[in-house]
Amino acid sequence: MQHIVNAQGLNMPKLGLGTWPMLGDECTRAVEQALELGYRHIDTAAAYNNEDAVGQALANTPTPREQIHLTTKVWWDQLQPDAMRHSMERSLKALRSDYVDLFMIHWPTTDWDLPRTLDTLAWFKEQGLTRNIGVANFPLPLLRKVVEEYGIGLSAIQVEYHVLLGQNALLDYARQHNMALTAYTPLARNKVSHIAEIQQIAAKHGVLPTQVALKWLLDQSNVAAIPKASSASNQSANLAALEVNLDDQDRALIASLSKRERQVSPDFAPVWDAFDQ
Ligand SMILES: NC(=O)c1ccc[n+]([C@@H]2O[C@H](COP(=O)([O-])OP(=O)(O)OC[C@H]3O[C@@H](n4cnc5c(N)ncnc54)[C@H](OP(=O)(O)O)[C@@H]3O)[C@@H](O)[C@H]2O)c1
Repeated sequence: MQHIVNAQGLNMPKLGLGTWPMLGDECTRAVEQALELGYRHIDTAAAYNNEDAVGQALANTPTPREQIHLTTKVWWDQLQPDAMRHSMERSLKALRSDYVDLFMIHWPTTDWDLPRTLDTLAWFKEQGLTRNIGVANFPLPLLRKVVEEYGIGLSAIQVEYHVLLGQNALLDYARQHNMALTAYTPLARNKVSHIAEIQQIAAKHGVLPTQVALKWLLDQSNVAAIPKASSASNQSANLAALEVNLDDQDRALIASLSKRERQVSPDFAPVWDAFDQ
């Protein structure tokens, strides 16, 4: 099986490590450990306050930087061009890198000059500060506007996606436009372990419910997933999910679950697409 998502120049390992809410030495240790286990995709953000800890892990690891896919993001109150440039500078310094592989707008806002924000995002790519650009938490109408009205070549969108939350419309759009869709909170914060149907599928294959939930995502074209795990045992189990074989019966059972259980919706979140609520 191919474990890479290819989209508009992006070559992103399908399984990555989420780093929020790890901080400091705990985060450094977890990232180093993940790289040692074979992870090659790390997800961070300016707002996680752990870019320095991730950067320390990148400095410590024997894994060459060019073998690691690194995503970071700019927070929604830093989307004016100057503030965005400073955010990018701080991120690169903390990450001890000359570039990131994917730079994303973390959340949309309504208080912005959208064309100037998008120009700055595109400029980062032109300057080689990031290899690819993307957005997170954009509902479909806004994503369409960015891609179709402003003609911005996005390589990826990052949104909450798991067995309890559907993202069919965004995923169709991502596929039509050759973009990756990165699933965040892919374990619904381990709620997946307590769903009877997922437990049943896991028992049938002799694997963990978390592995079933992850493999359901990883089997989908254009989809990557970034579970956060701090212990070596959880990190290894999540990596081993790539080897699980789900069948049509399993997928039908997962399709029958409620797909409206969003875990992440802060007060600054946009109005979500109606079909996802
Ligand atoms: N773009 C955005 O707005 C956004 C929003 C939220 C999250 N994210 C990204 O997505 C990442 C993941 O999301 P998340 O942290 O919200 O949720 P998640 O990955 O669904 O769940 C993380 C929780 O699951 C546990 N876990 C991981 N592997 C496990 C396993 N094999 N068995 C049992 N429990 C397991 C972790 O525990 P241990 O740590 O103890 O292993 C942790 O408590 C974040 O770290 C962040 O990078 C992005």
